[in-house]
Amino acid sequence: MSLEVLKVENLFKKYENLNRYANNDINLEIFQGEIFGLLGKNGAGKTTLVRQICGLLLPTKGKIYIDNIDIINNSSEIPYHLAYLSQSLYPHRALKVKEFIVYTGMYRGLSKEKAIKQMENLIKYFKIEDLKDRIMYNLSGGETRIIGFIASLMGFRKFIVLDEPTNDMDPEKRFLLWELVKTLKKQLGISFLLVTHNIYEAQDVVDRIAIIKDGEILKKGRPSDIIRNLDMNISVKFELPYNIDQHKLENLKYNLIKIDDTNYKIDTNERELNLILENIFNGELKNIVRNINIEKPTLVDVYLSEVTKNE
Ligand SMILES: Nc1ncnc2c1ncn2[C@@H]1O[C@H](COP(=O)(O)OP(=O)(O)OP(=O)(O)O)[C@@H](O)[C@H]1O
Ligand SMILES: [Mg+2]
Repeated sequence: MSLEVLKVENLFKKYENLNRYANNDINLEIFQGEIFGLLGKNGAGKTTLVRQICGLLLPTKGKIYIDNIDIINNSSEIPYHLAYLSQSLYPHRALKVKEFIVYTGMYRGLSKEKAIKQMENLIKYFKIEDLKDRIMYNLSGGETRIIGFIASLMGFRKFIVLDEPTNDMDPEKRFLLWELVKTLKKQLGISFLLVTHNIYEAQDVVDRIAIIKDGEILKKGRPSDIIRNLDMNISVKFELPYNIDQHKLENLKYNLIKIDDTNYKIDTNERELNLILENIFNGELKNIVRNINIEKPTLVDVYLSEVTKNE
């Protein structure tokens, strides 16, 4: 059984001037070396949840354990166990970039020498050596985000919470960030709780996800399991010669949809997919079918179908 880094039990958060629960009976757990993605629309309750996990917001009801420690009653323990990149900007605006990063490392317990070395390595990795001596307050949005991300890594806590880390970043920086997250998971066994709207990017990185809507978790699990269990449409598309004998098509067991003169598709699901492929490869269409393409639903399709349900 893997080690549990985080456990959230029956967590509720009510803000005074919001007439519903911002978090409504949330249950989740994150294991060592796991990258867990939290997805949901604006206002779904993601930041509310992570701020409670990071000890910056008191839950209305429920339990949160980090490394088996009840952190609601021991919030001063939290900084020893996790690092947090918040969604909003930081207060350290008057510092130079290198000072901000090195001080962050030092307050996580690194010696000054070690903090400087780690800062240099991370700055080099992101190819932003020219930012080192700049003052935080006049950096661009994307630059500020990278520096915040680097600071969240300093001292390499075993659990790192990232609230929309890639916002404002250019594609190259995003790529470097995700690659580094995967490497840190693999090499150091670090666990990540990741809030993001970049589902295309997240689906290559996360081990498990939760989709949250109006404060409640709608779906939780491995993306591939969630996709399979939803039984969403899979399209099998292929080409046939334009002068094909129509009888051959009528004999097919499956509902064939003609897209144009030569392109066809069959809509199916995970359960029937293999049977259909067998039928195409060994049946009437054998030898004449070309360019078979299987379009499976992605995490984006699942997300959209879940968050727009009943709207
Ligand atoms: N201090 C507050 N007082 C009252 N309501 C709040 C407060 N903070 C957040 N809310 C409300 O709680 C709900 C959840 O907000 P939260 O910031 O957790 O959403 P989110 O999922 O992080 O959204 P986003 O993707 O836009 O960052 C929203 O409806 C928000 O307006
Ligand atoms: Mg948020």
